[in-house]
Amino acid sequence: MKILMVTPELDPFVKVGGLGDMVGALAKQLARQGHDVRCIIPLYGSVKPVGTWSVRPQPLGADLAGGPEFARVWETTIPGSEARVYFLEHERFFGRPEVYSDGAGSFPDNDHRFIFFGRAALNLSLQLGWIPDAIHCHDWTCGFVPVWLNTTDRDGPLGRCATVFTIHNLEHQGYSHRRALAYAKLPEWLFNATNVEACGAVNLMKAGLYHSTKITTVSPTYAREIQTPAYGFGLDHVLRFRAGDLIGILNGIDTEAWNPASDPHLPASFDLSDPVAGKAACKAALQRELGLDVDPRKPVFGVVSRLFRQKGLDLLCEVLPAIVTNMQVQFAILGTGDADLETDLRHTAWEFPGRVGLKLAFDNRIAHLIQGGADFFVMPSRTEPCGLTQLYAMRYGSLPVARATGGLVDTIEQYREGTDTGTGFLFHAADENAVYHTIGWANATYYDRPEEFATLRANAMARDFSWPLSADRYAQVYGWAVDARRAGLAAALAHPEDPARSAAPVGKP
Ligand code: ADP
Ligand code: GLC
Repeated sequence: MKILMVTPELDPFVKVGGLGDMVGALAKQLARQGHDVRCIIPLYGSVKPVGTWSVRPQPLGADLAGGPEFARVWETTIPGSEARVYFLEHERFFGRPEVYSDGAGSFPDNDHRFIFFGRAALNLSLQLGWIPDAIHCHDWTCGFVPVWLNTTDRDGPLGRCATVFTIHNLEHQGYSHRRALAYAKLPEWLFNATNVEACGAVNLMKAGLYHSTKITTVSPTYAREIQTPAYGFGLDHVLRFRAGDLIGILNGIDTEAWNPASDPHLPASFDLSDPVAGKAACKAALQRELGLDVDPRKPVFGVVSRLFRQKGLDLLCEVLPAIVTNMQVQFAILGTGDADLETDLRHTAWEFPGRVGLKLAFDNRIAHLIQGGADFFVMPSRTEPCGLTQLYAMRYGSLPVARATGGLVDTIEQYREGTDTGTGFLFHAADENAVYHTIGWANATYYDRPEEFATLRANAMARDFSWPLSADRYAQVYGWAVDARRAGLAAALAHPEDPARSAAPVGKP
């Protein structure tokens, strides 16, 4: 199949979180399985120039209400893969290093930036004369892509393309003024609650959810959770409406980039057959790197995370002083994000030198070192669509201590004492007591039941989270989407006057 990924992040070129990891690894895997995969992404100022690049001879135009905008298009491939990548260079929109926001918050021109991006992505497909079977859109930034295909482009060459929209995180929806429709040259009648409008504004996520042929999200549990008001962020009714087209597919991980047996970021390698010596060397290096007391006996609890409320790290912050006061443990924390959380963590690290090591930065090498050197990995997430770091942790023999939500439920098996089963420690309540006591439980297992701790570590390292299976599921969904799109178009052609048979899931009111 011909698959076009329209994505705001793509590892190894640029990532803010797991979305970049997921799209990069999925594109590689699909290409390996013989699909013709191409990715389109903005050329932000911070993109790493990995591999060999060439510039396309023609500029790429997008006709928007503000006047035509032009991008220069750079072409390369994902390293080690046939998957092609097109970078759209547009200095005013994407010259800055950050993807969505800087210290002052989300960029005020995000709607224009990403509307341009989506429109330009479709125009590039036309310019290349390469019409995909399925266009795979990732999160709100691509929300208008399925809408153009159902309206302005429906009778053009791209009208037959199916769209698959993946929700990586429902919390971020891309709100914009209603003028965004005019800017995108989309018809005004779309401004209603069963198309693109929410709370009197344009909601790009909602637009994508109503207009795409199929919807996926990144774990089966999250697919169920987001249909409830508690996890739906105001869009649960839309997801219930589209429940028949909503599929949860667990993310895989890039087992080449995250392999403790050959990880260039680690001072020693290890694998399931012999984790002890290698992990001990990594632990000592981690303790040195983050200024912890170098002590092989103390368990190290790692954190690698965006520091936001979603991740529940405020809950950890509340009890961290009590934990390090009452338990013989160390913490190795890496992250950036919310200023208040950063300040709280800085205070605790200052109060407990040698026991709380903190690095407030985005640093891939230290992220690998924490996975390699830690004994446990803490994720008290309030919501977690999938979560990749717990998968890396298990592969690196660090046992997750996590809240039972979203993908964490689907990937971590609860430890049952005395049964040799389990890969981690799960708790349910999103409160600081649960965090405190579950870390206490993990700690007691480490000190009091070392054989069981070793068994859990072996269980975790033996889990297979590689991509082939999940990539097959995506290929299946693309196939369903293509069939549904063609059937929808055929029905619409047979009954042009009947909006209910429109290719869009909802018709013109
Ligand atoms: P999310 O996408 O919600 O942030 P995931 O667990 O899916 O959560 O993915 C997070 C990704 O970002 C992982 O690859 C993780 O290693 C990486 N990451 C997060 N924070 C940092 C950081 N401060 N430095 C380096 N890598 C980070
Ligand atoms: C989002 C989610 C995370 C998920 C990632 C990749 O950033 O917060 O849970 O793993 O996307 O799909």
